[in-house]
Amino acid sequence: MTHSWPHDLIAWYRQNARVLPWRNPPGAALPADAAWPYRVWLSEVMLQQTTVEAVTPYFHAFTARWPSVAALAAAEDADVMQAWAGLGYYARARNMLACARAVVAQHDGRFPGDEAALRALPGIGDYTAAAVAAFGFGRVSVVIDGNIERVTTRLLAIATPLPAARAAIRAGLMPMLPAGQAGDFAQAMMDLARRVCTPRAPKCLLCPIAGACAARQAGNPEDYPVKPAKRARPTRLGTAWWIEVNGDVLTVQRPAKGLLGGMRALPSCDWRGGHAAPPLDGNWQLLGAVRHGFTHFELELRVAALWLDARPAFDGADWVKVADIAGVGLPTLFAKAAALGQSASRGEDSA
Ligand code: ADE
Repeated sequence: MTHSWPHDLIAWYRQNARVLPWRNPPGAALPADAAWPYRVWLSEVMLQQTTVEAVTPYFHAFTARWPSVAALAAAEDADVMQAWAGLGYYARARNMLACARAVVAQHDGRFPGDEAALRALPGIGDYTAAAVAAFGFGRVSVVIDGNIERVTTRLLAIATPLPAARAAIRAGLMPMLPAGQAGDFAQAMMDLARRVCTPRAPKCLLCPIAGACAARQAGNPEDYPVKPAKRARPTRLGTAWWIEVNGDVLTVQRPAKGLLGGMRALPSCDWRGGHAAPPLDGNWQLLGAVRHGFTHFELELRVAALWLDARPAFDGADWVKVADIAGVGLPTLFAKAAALGQSASRGEDSA
């Protein structure tokens, strides 16, 4: 008798599963601890932004500092934003905090295990709800991320472009979920996607489910998933201002709403043009420009510097030693801009 491909996939996973700090070992019962779904949720929020390698130190830092959802819910917003710096979009960190507070307010500090109740929480969409239900609670749910999309569209030769293909992916996976192992199944798909079923040059000879793969049989796995036509991201221009007085540089807190909301930053214009008037009169010098990608646009941020002998009046000014600027939790865009300022700095010469 031949095994179905999910059986072969799970057998492969038992031998090859990556060890990750938020992952239950294959086949093991889930920890009964209420902190377990919290850890799963936290890892999933972080993993939406970046890779497993980049997330791991942040995951350890967050869980050491805020070991439960109640602890995170009670944290100061600014502390969480600072700890998040480098992980990506701050809107997600704000939603993460709102979610932790909703779990405390509405669910007595325990994540619900039901997908619909999870989806009702701030910042939790279809993917995260399914992942927390499966990995955090062992519920039967169809988890679909980019990796699982790639494996499944190849396996079933689904030629519909994404994201419309998701309905067919879901319908294809639903009947294949092995009883009681939906979490292992999805995490096995993720590991297979990263190690074997890679975007380019998939290693079909090593694949435990190659025999069931329609794209492999047709010889064109790299044609899947079919991507939607791309729209070009526009470039916006802006200016950031490096204002330095005796080895100190002026920073501000950005308004709570909007891009990089609530983060420490250099003063800057609203990024709609390139020629905003500087916030102070003086002999400004252009240091250069940095580029940074946001979801809907690319920003080219020019950096202009002004050296003064005395601190000017400036709303919300928070002066920082130039030598310390890398440690104040600037978001990546402003860290790049500050690096230009720091290398042009005159503070260290005069100190
Ligand atoms: N990406 C998102 N969640 C993951 C998980 N639990 N294991 C591996 N990769 C992931």
